[in-house]
Amino acid sequence: MTRLHIISFSTRLTSSGRPLAHWITELAAAHGAFEPTLIDLREVALPFLDEPGLPSDGHYVHQHAKDWSAVIDAADAFVFVMPMYNGGFTAPLKNAIDTLYHEWQDKPVGLISYSTGSSGGAPALEMIRPVLARVGLRPTAPTLSIPAIENHLDEAGHLRATAGLTDQARAVLAGVAQSAAALPEQAHAVA
Ligand SMILES: Cc1cc2nc3c(=O)[nH]c(=O)nc-3n(C[C@H](O)[C@H](O)[C@H](O)COP(=O)(O)O)c2cc1C
Repeated sequence: MTRLHIISFSTRLTSSGRPLAHWITELAAAHGAFEPTLIDLREVALPFLDEPGLPSDGHYVHQHAKDWSAVIDAADAFVFVMPMYNGGFTAPLKNAIDTLYHEWQDKPVGLISYSTGSSGGAPALEMIRPVLARVGLRPTAPTLSIPAIENHLDEAGHLRATAGLTDQARAVLAGVAQSAAALPEQAHAVA
C-alpha cells in the first residue's frame, strides 16, 4: 500500500479547500492502493523557515522542523490541494516545501488547485512546478484545477461532488497510484 499524504495547503480558518482535501482523502481510501492521511497545514502551524542550517543538510534544530520532517518522511506519495492567491501559489505552500529537502525526493505528487475565478488556480499549479522539480518531487498526470470552488460546497461546508468532478479526482489518484507503483519497492511494504 502506498502511504499517501493529502496535504491541504490553506492555513485559513475559512478555507474552501479543506473540505475538498477531506473528500480527496475519502476517495483515496476507497481507491484501494492507498493508505491515506490528511495533513492540514493550518493544524501543522509551521512557522516561516528559521532553521540555522540548510534544509538540504537535514540537521534540524527546531522541534517544528523535526516534526514536519517526520510527517513528510512517512509518506511515499502526495496529493497537494492548493489554493491560488493573487495569481500564484501561496507563501505557506512554498514555506512548507522549503523547510525540508530530502524528505520530498523522488516522491510522486498529484496536483489539485482551486480558486474563486475561472482558472481554478491552474497558473499557481504551473508556477510551482520548477520548485517541485528542485526538491525532486515528481508531479503526476493528470492534474485537476477547480474553478469557482465556493460553488462546490454545500450549506454545511462539505464538498458537493458532481460525477464529473469525481471522475477527474479519481483520475488524479490513478496517476499517483501508477507513478507510485513504478517506484522501487519501499522498505515498509508488506510482502
Ligand atoms: C490573498 C488571496 C488572494 C486571492 N487571489 C485570487 C486570485 O488571484 N484569483 C482567484 O481566482 N481567486 C483568488 N482568491 C480567492 C481564492 O482562490 C479563494 O478564496 C479560495 O477559496 C482560497 O482558498 P482557501 O479558502 O482554501 O484559503 C484569493 C484569495 C485570497 C485569500
